[in-house]
Amino acid sequence: MGGMGDMMRPPAAHEPLYPQLMRAPREPSQAERQRLVDRAAERQRTAQRALDGAHRALSEALARGDATVAHGAARDIALASDELGATLQAVAALTAGQAPADVALSWLRVSMSLTAQAPSPLHATRGFHWTVLALLAMFGLSFVWIAWDRRRRIAALIEALPQQTPARAAATDMTAPRTAALAEIPFRGKGAETSQTAAHNVDETVAASAPAGLPWRGVLRVAAVFDETHDVKTFRLMAPGGRPLPFTYAPGQYLTLHLPMEGAIVKRSYTIASSPSQRDYLELTVKREPAGRVSPYLHDRVAVGDDIDVSGPAGRFTFDGSAANCIVLIGGGVGITPLMSVLRHLTAHAWPGRIALLYACRTTDDFIFREELEYLQRRHPNLQVVATMTRGRGHAWMGAEGYPTAQRIRDAVPDIATQRVHVCGPPPMMDAVLAMLTELSVPRANIYIEKFGPDKRPRPPATSAASGTDAPASARFARSGRAAVVASGMSVLEAAESVGVGIDNACRSGTCGSCKVKLVSGSVSHAVDDALSADEKAAGWILACQAQAHTDVVIDA
Ligand SMILES: Cc1cc2nc3c(=O)[nH]c(=O)nc-3n(C[C@H](O)[C@H](O)[C@H](O)COP(=O)(O)OP(=O)(O)OC[C@H]3O[C@@H](n4cnc5c(N)ncnc54)[C@H](O)[C@@H]3O)c2cc1C
Ligand code: FES
Repeated sequence: MGGMGDMMRPPAAHEPLYPQLMRAPREPSQAERQRLVDRAAERQRTAQRALDGAHRALSEALARGDATVAHGAARDIALASDELGATLQAVAALTAGQAPADVALSWLRVSMSLTAQAPSPLHATRGFHWTVLALLAMFGLSFVWIAWDRRRRIAALIEALPQQTPARAAATDMTAPRTAALAEIPFRGKGAETSQTAAHNVDETVAASAPAGLPWRGVLRVAAVFDETHDVKTFRLMAPGGRPLPFTYAPGQYLTLHLPMEGAIVKRSYTIASSPSQRDYLELTVKREPAGRVSPYLHDRVAVGDDIDVSGPAGRFTFDGSAANCIVLIGGGVGITPLMSVLRHLTAHAWPGRIALLYACRTTDDFIFREELEYLQRRHPNLQVVATMTRGRGHAWMGAEGYPTAQRIRDAVPDIATQRVHVCGPPPMMDAVLAMLTELSVPRANIYIEKFGPDKRPRPPATSAASGTDAPASARFARSGRAAVVASGMSVLEAAESVGVGIDNACRSGTCGSCKVKLVSGSVSHAVDDALSADEKAAGWILACQAQAHTDVVIDA
């Protein structure tokens, strides 16, 4: 597409402003000019919000002496200042009647720090414009000076903070086409059980997983949205301005999205499914939970051009190939995302070890990344993909059907007992696979799991707390002055929510640390407490999303 037809095409709602400016006529109609001014003003407001948020993040980080977050916030302030300066200049220049293409070029210059000059007056045709442009130049320059001065002061402040070890930079690129030809991926073996997920076949071990990314908070822009299956979409996010991603991450880590919904910020975590080898963008692959709050919002409301407030990366469910020479990845449904990041990363680097992916989903219609996996398997002889459909429907399927079994795992990976295994999928599938791995003599220390949140299966009737007594425990929330009954299996967070006490949370699986609260008295236990340091535990901090009360408890919330 291009040429005249493109020129006449009305801009899509979220089309980036720069191409719109470049494509507009030199003398646009008043309505068209107003539309461009409105779009630039919208960008200006977004930049202003990002700047305010980054300032807040910096103040908070400095107050608690968190050098890592402070570094990220300072970088965000610099980026947002640049963006704000450029958008202010663009709004004013457009209002003053400057040709859109000249505005775009000035914007580009400011964004790329080529020069902070005022827009060229060559195309201004009226005396009034000269005056406005002169004012603009003064305004733009004073803004740039303020931004520069702010940056200088922040840099001085940051200098005084302790430095962190920089994250390991990612390497090469690798993006397999999304449209490789269909081919059946056989699942060897037989059997059936479990619920609605997982299956597989694999090869070897593992390596350690040191989180590579430093925590970051800022805005990423939706650059593309892809349909993966009937209820799964991939969102490609990039840094505004087309810069490289402002952080690095380890394969398997996740981001937390902070979404403004119904007057509050709602947080959810999503794995970065793409490879850290790719530095220009990252991808989140999201399954729609029909009755969920955030995933339908992402599917239905988020579009190309939207900015999303994210924090991260976080998570320890990672493998970069450095700690073992074989990895077995077992996934079910959308639980394939962290495994896919690992797989993409390892194949991108032509990792010489053995990679086995055992994947289960309901039908071929639910097979996420199928074409890419087929493509990668053809190119990488060390990659073995074994898929099974728990129900035969959709396209013709010549591979295995039914649920995964220990026998199928053993058939796929005969030496499974000595390999490192990563498992991610729906809770019933994970429980079943863990039992099978135990049956196959895989040591627990070799098994790494990630849960996408709490188990939402129906609980047994609530009669007691984890103490084993018949009486439920009680939780008193000291600051809000409320109390709740903590039924068996209920977390402190759920107890708080049941009486309207708000405790911040995101992953609800013990890994992000959002829900840290102080235990004033009583005793709790955690199934997962990855987000707590030894010092924090000793100081009485707990993770509300994981904490199960053993006695009556008092919480500082
Ligand atoms: C580390 C991590 C990584 C993740 N990565 C991904 C990923 O890559 N892709 C992905 O799609 N998801 C991922 N998730 C899950 C994701 O964060 C969300 O939990 C998911 O998208 C559902 O959010 P929601 O707001 O749409 O649904 P919610 O509103 O949270 O509800 C989820 C589902 O549970 C049901 N439900 C809610 N509360 C209860 C209850 N008390 N009892 C019974 N049922 C209930 C809802 O009806 C709905 O079906 C990840 C989670 C974590 C922790
Ligand atoms: S919500 Fe993430 S650790 Fe509790």
